Amino acid sequence: MSNSAPEARRLHLDGATLLRQLKELGEIGADSEVGGRTRIALTDDEKAGRDLVASWMRELELEVVVDRIGNLFGILRSEADDGTEAPLMMGSHIDSVTNAGALDGCYGVLAGLAVARAYREAGIAPSRSIMVGAFTNEEGIRYQPDMMGSLVYAGGLSVDEALNTIGTDGTRLGDELARIGYAGDLEPGAIVPHEYLELHIEQGPILEAEGIQLGVVKNLQGISWQQVTIQGNANHAGTTPTHLRHDAGFVAASIVTFLRELARDSGGTTLATVGCLSVQPNVINVIPRRATLTVDLRDPDEERLTLAEQRFAEFLEKVAQREGVNISTERLARFEPVVFDSCLVDCIEASANGYGFTNRRMTSGAGHDAQMIARIAPSAMIFVPSKGGISHNPREHTDDVQLVMGAEVLLNVVLNRLGQAQA
Ligand code: GLV
Ligand code: MN
Ligand code: MN
Repeated sequence: MSNSAPEARRLHLDGATLLRQLKELGEIGADSEVGGRTRIALTDDEKAGRDLVASWMRELELEVVVDRIGNLFGILRSEADDGTEAPLMMGSHIDSVTNAGALDGCYGVLAGLAVARAYREAGIAPSRSIMVGAFTNEEGIRYQPDMMGSLVYAGGLSVDEALNTIGTDGTRLGDELARIGYAGDLEPGAIVPHEYLELHIEQGPILEAEGIQLGVVKNLQGISWQQVTIQGNANHAGTTPTHLRHDAGFVAASIVTFLRELARDSGGTTLATVGCLSVQPNVINVIPRRATLTVDLRDPDEERLTLAEQRFAEFLEKVAQREGVNISTERLARFEPVVFDSCLVDCIEASANGYGFTNRRMTSGAGHDAQMIARIAPSAMIFVPSKGGISHNPREHTDDVQLVMGAEVLLNVVLNRLGQAQA
């Protein structure tokens, strides 16, 4: 670390290092066939990603701590911090979906490190400790619910319940966490942040479509995840008249169609997705005996989301009766919409305006760790545009200049919050 002369002691965002680290982390778990990377929570590839991020934290001489649910933190203490000061926290996640882009989550974590680096390089201590977090299992595709590490950290789920979660591959989360060496000692939530900031790619089309440089995220929509199991009867495809069928596959298809209508009827506010769908025995000339599917419902308004869930439940009852099948549902996740802290939102907007970056207030369609941390600390988010609005896809892209611009704003907001703004 250089100790610059006083007149040169200004904090600079090192964009080149941020971009290099994004690329390097993005190479872990690379998919050779379809491109992108797959770094699913608590797999060997995700462990490799964690090791790399932890090594970068150590390079910055941050205090590296891991909590019992595997959240990884790097702390840069203020001079006054005797270990009890509530830090300004930044962060996101480094786990990914299958065939992911390189930016979702990683950008927020590495931009947090870029802020810590700016302090280190300038030889200046933050006036309040800063803490950068990589939360466990944000994506929630192997273990549900999603945003699990931050949810546990915020006290919304007990550590033991989370550790006992059984994954889609039959593994126990706590066993996998121990196996990869990230079952830490810190009690989740032991360090309550003073404030929380998360920089993220938009993952949607709005900023690009409107030609706007930066999103000031004021709220985040509610998320409802369920698994639906339909039990019908297998029978011969050539001999069973239509009116005598109890076809689990047909019911699954009706559910998909109903959900699209539900979303359409909402005028665009409710979103509905069936992301997983399987039938058994999955044979060309056998009427499906059983079907399982997942339902992801979202809406920024809690009442509308509840109403959508009710309409869906009523539909399941009706279709089960009509088709003579049994339908059961299991709740996988349910998060209410969140409104971010208005003071932080104002501060982000003022910072963007200060740089002359065009910006707009917006709602996050995706779930984020900020949604959970908002339960225990004032929180807000900053978005940069996503090319073509594409994310959860190897083609996810944000131009380098926009990535650096977002990190500059994050640094500026941190400096403002800490009363260390530079003229
Ligand atoms: C997280 O990526 C989500 O599902 O919104
Ligand atoms: Mn994310
Ligand atoms: Mn994601």
